[in-house]
Amino acid sequence: MKQRIEPSRGLRGTLTIPGDKSISHRSIMFGSLAEGDTEITGFLYGDDCLSTVGAFRSMGIAIDVTDEKIVVHGKGLHGLTEPDNYIDVGNSGTTIRLISGILAGQAFNTVLTGDDSIRKRPMGRVMKPLSAMGAKITGRKNNTLAPLAIEGTALQAIHYDSPVASAQVKSAVLLAGLYADGWTSVTEPSLSRNHTELMLKSFGAEIESEGTTARVKGNPQLKGQIIEVPGDISSAAYPLVAGSIIPGSELHLKNVGLNPTRTGIIDVLLDMGADITISNERTSGGEKMGDLTVRSAKLHGTTIAGDLIPRLVDEIPVIAVAAACAEGVTEIHDAQELKVKESNRLETVAQGLRAFGCEVEVLDDGLRIAGGKPLQADAVCNSFGDHRIAMSMTIAALAAEGAAEIEQFEAVSVSWPSFWADIQGLEVK
Ligand code: S3P
Repeated sequence: MKQRIEPSRGLRGTLTIPGDKSISHRSIMFGSLAEGDTEITGFLYGDDCLSTVGAFRSMGIAIDVTDEKIVVHGKGLHGLTEPDNYIDVGNSGTTIRLISGILAGQAFNTVLTGDDSIRKRPMGRVMKPLSAMGAKITGRKNNTLAPLAIEGTALQAIHYDSPVASAQVKSAVLLAGLYADGWTSVTEPSLSRNHTELMLKSFGAEIESEGTTARVKGNPQLKGQIIEVPGDISSAAYPLVAGSIIPGSELHLKNVGLNPTRTGIIDVLLDMGADITISNERTSGGEKMGDLTVRSAKLHGTTIAGDLIPRLVDEIPVIAVAAACAEGVTEIHDAQELKVKESNRLETVAQGLRAFGCEVEVLDDGLRIAGGKPLQADAVCNSFGDHRIAMSMTIAALAAEGAAEIEQFEAVSVSWPSFWADIQGLEVK
């Protein structure tokens, strides 16, 4: 589906940001492995998280979904049953990688697959540590790609030094560790999001973190919880950038997750000169949240690299849009991981911004963006089936000198189904 976007005259108002995708996935997974009911409010009803709901339903877990809340009727660590078909994870990397860790330790076999994008994304990064724990997993292309076949078996605890800062890898190993005797630990090169550690702890697991190492003790008794999912800061990133770069804007974003492993976007935008304030800070289930206000401001270029990258990894496409509108050059380094996301985001962002006449160079490990030139009218961009590219190019289009078109716009349903209606509701008439 093609979406035509007219330039914005300013965005004003209050927005409820959809639920955090990472936390929503985990609430279904851990709720399924817990004893008793888990009640979830603020859940993200996007395609990815619904793939996780489908996966656990197919393994015998009753999950009641209503508009107000989700109730997962957990059956304990050993309560899952063999699905009678393969599990389709759709576009969701979090679903396939995290449940691989859970499925490796079951007393049954499973097959996992997903859409064209997921079948191109690297799975060796979870298969390698899981195999070291004794898991029996095979996949296409010499055990690197989905579909994956998992033969459930007994697992051994390990320590894993991960070569990548990836919460999906870390979480897969820790979840497999629930099924192994003793302590399973993972050290990563920089700290990635720690929602698995925080939520497993609230469910009653023995789990500890120190620096970039997390460790969990096997065979815990997990107990159903009440979970309030905060708004996803990765989704808040779009109105944060739009509100900054579109003159005359003022936006209030309610209940946004502010876990420090995720707030790199706020640090970077502030560093670029943005006007963002945080209020009503509080904590629920170990997760920080609060309200954000953004007003338009003049931005300037910056450099983003190192330990900051995992704290804003999903926000780089929309940060690139901010950089295109900022005075001066922005360089992004140490961001090779973007090549293996839902699309090769270094290439797809560069292609999108170039359609607006922006000068972008793709580097080995990032991007170099020459900002400050007005974004041209009549751009035609493709999302390449990637939700974050569709939303980022929408923000660029709103800030452009004339109308633009985004092809394959429907990808937004992966993480923000009502994105376009919500943004249109903020337009100054
Ligand atoms: C996620 C981890 C990140 C992120 C993804 C969600 C998670 O992926 O990009 O959108 O929920 O654990 P990596 O672990 O591959 O960095």
